[in-house]
Amino acid sequence: MPLSQQLKDRIVNEIFPKYPTRRAALMSSLWLAQDEQGWLSDETFEEIGELLELHPTDVEAVASFYVMFHRRPVGKKLIEVCENPSCVINGATETMHRLCEKLGIEHGGGHGGATTRDGEYTVRPTECVAACDKAPAVQVNYRYYGHVTADKVDAFLADMEAFNIEGLPATNDLETRAKDMKRGQA
Ligand code: FES
Repeated sequence: MPLSQQLKDRIVNEIFPKYPTRRAALMSSLWLAQDEQGWLSDETFEEIGELLELHPTDVEAVASFYVMFHRRPVGKKLIEVCENPSCVINGATETMHRLCEKLGIEHGGGHGGATTRDGEYTVRPTECVAACDKAPAVQVNYRYYGHVTADKVDAFLADMEAFNIEGLPATNDLETRAKDMKRGQA
């Protein structure tokens, strides 16, 4: 599906003026395109390339470097399980297996992940999400959830907000730490 004219106009009129060159606007343009389309297709790379005066291969090269850019459609809920050391030591691999088992999908590895037939969930591994002290950590649509061990997966799927750690002060929450330090509490 082609990008809407409204989105193209927005990129030209709102995004371009913020950057010294069109090329520098690539990440923001890709993000907006994904927001509209849900994922980034070859057609989108061509359209973005045309707007930014870049070869589609250059556009794809940047998009494929970052796991947050989707190269295929993802479910309404994108569940990402951290597969870095702190989380793996604390059971992330088992969490991943249980999630896939519970949702009835086969996880074949890689960052593409797997999606349920109804398009509701995609499960995939990701890199450290900076919630190592709440391992195993999970992201759902880029919100943080912690201590999602395999034995808690059923409860997690039933009520994700019970595992939401964004409201809790964490050792890696630099803003909270900075405020605490100013108040002499850290
Ligand atoms: S290692 Fe998993 S959040 Fe850092």
